Amino acid sequence: MKTTAVSCSNIAFIKYWGNRDNLRRVPLNDSLSMNLDHATTTTTVAFDAKLENDRVIIGGAELENAAPAAARVIAQLDRVRALAKIETKARVASKNNFPTGAGIASSASGFAALTFAAARAAGLELSELELSVLARQGSGSAARSIPPGFVELLTSWESNRSHARSVAPPEHWDLRDVIAIVSAAEKMVGSTEGHHAAQTSPFLPERLNALPPRFHRVRRAILAKDLPALGSAIEEEAIELHSIAMTSRPPIFYWAPGMVRVIQAALKWRAEGLAVYFTLDAGPNVHLICEAKDVEQVEKLTRTISDVKDVLVNAPGGAAKLGTTHLF
Ligand code: DP6
Repeated sequence: MKTTAVSCSNIAFIKYWGNRDNLRRVPLNDSLSMNLDHATTTTTVAFDAKLENDRVIIGGAELENAAPAAARVIAQLDRVRALAKIETKARVASKNNFPTGAGIASSASGFAALTFAAARAAGLELSELELSVLARQGSGSAARSIPPGFVELLTSWESNRSHARSVAPPEHWDLRDVIAIVSAAEKMVGSTEGHHAAQTSPFLPERLNALPPRFHRVRRAILAKDLPALGSAIEEEAIELHSIAMTSRPPIFYWAPGMVRVIQAALKWRAEGLAVYFTLDAGPNVHLICEAKDVEQVEKLTRTISDVKDVLVNAPGGAAKLGTTHLF
């Protein structure tokens, strides 16, 4: 049956960076994120006995099946087919409602929507836990786009137990992520490569030691809706992610001058009394975290920085869900 799913991207407060098992994408550490309500992917999947090959259409363009992006989608379809015990080929169409290459994690929303739609289309009735495990194998951060709101992805020594679950629903805390886009260019080194490279940083053991208490600080701050506590932990975490990337061999450098300018501006606004904190992804764009009451001011100030090409504002988003409008 033709099935469409919609899911949000997410911004990690505690980052997933490095795997225990690269093949199954079992993360080295627990991570915690917020779903982004205005950054969604819609994906339609139909298994069709008449097809000789899978067909993958992303953003309206059909990909060659050998292209890396298509191969990754097909590998995820293969996981679904193995679970459903079918061999039927599928047609997949997917589109993002946010600019691609804007530095927003499209693999998180993309693999969450693909996994949800493909599992349903194949007739599988999977629980949220099972869907998150399956999505994680397509893209680690996608596991966290299956449950709603503020979501943790727990690691495990067993792949089938490394799953995501909601820490709090989206309405728990009216936070905003004001994303300052300083570069829309495709990143030079993708996350998958970054996860592999993490193991070569001499500082990784240090990070893995520091993470459990930081993870609990973030979790507690979310439950208590304590922005200064959340903010100090996420800023440490963002800087550490980039430190590990930069000290990998060979180094991975995601910085851009605009990124540093936005961070310095945010620190200045905070010193002047505005409650705003930054986090970063594997790229130069800056995610400014504030409460809804301050979002207008944060957005207005961010737009005054000349390096900022665009600003996207997101509130906490819901769970991956079925969509009603098919893409084909
Ligand atoms: C920095 O989930 O994109 O955004 O599993 O290889 O698809 P793959 O990696 P991905 O890595 C996310 C890295 C991050 C941090 C995070 O979202 O936790």
